[in-house]
Amino acid sequence: MPPSSTPYHVAIVMDGNGRWASKRFLPRIAGHKQGVDSLKRCACACDARGIKVLTVFAFSSENWQRPQEEVSGLMDLFALALGREVPQLKLDGVQLRFIGERQGLSNRVLKGIEQAEAATAANHKLVLNVCFNYGGRWDIVQAAARVAAQGLEMTEQNLSQAMALAHVPDPDLVIRTGGEQRISNFLLWQSAYSEFFFSDKLWPDFDEAALDQAIESYALRERRFGKVPGQGDAAASPVGVH
Ligand code: FPP
Repeated sequence: MPPSSTPYHVAIVMDGNGRWASKRFLPRIAGHKQGVDSLKRCACACDARGIKVLTVFAFSSENWQRPQEEVSGLMDLFALALGREVPQLKLDGVQLRFIGERQGLSNRVLKGIEQAEAATAANHKLVLNVCFNYGGRWDIVQAAARVAAQGLEMTEQNLSQAMALAHVPDPDLVIRTGGEQRISNFLLWQSAYSEFFFSDKLWPDFDEAALDQAIESYALRERRFGKVPGQGDAAASPVGVH
């Protein structure tokens, strides 16, 4: 596949862990555990395919409303997975970034996040943004508050620069697994010109072949950014056109 047909930034709503577990008569947390393995496999596969940024939705602002047992299970899993995986991610050249509201997270999780970011800050092979306690609306509001606090004009450019994902270009391809076709408060601002791919596979089953299917579909899309077909240089001005 020529490099131009490979997305630079892929973002994923990793949906279907609970159903994966229920189908096997396992507790939902078993599906989330399997989801961590699927994420590791996916990050490796993205790197192998020349994708430079992977952004995943790991815990939404709304996920606090799940049963307490599942929320605390997810927090434990998150802290454990960080402790376990960061040394290898560091060796693999992955830069970890955590995107979301940090207020309200436990000290254990916060410490894990800070250590993971510090340990991998110098890496540049693949940026892995983990959206945790994140919502697209939260991001827009916090960005607007920052722009206002700095006394800047409320422009698209100033807002974009205040967004939590300002360190990477907007996602080229947004994938949602698990069969649902909705955005669920993920990257509301940044996905304005993204291509979307919906997979029926449950997240723990989302393997290299499924990723390739999404990339192949992306490669066939014509991205116009509001221009007419064949106008060219489409990627040059994605802001402010419809
Ligand atoms: C959605 O499936 C998945 C989540 C809310 C959690 C995803 C988290 C992980 C894959 C673990 C990430 C961990 C680290 C360390 C980054 P669901 O529970 O909504 O599934 P369902 O739709 O089948 O109920």
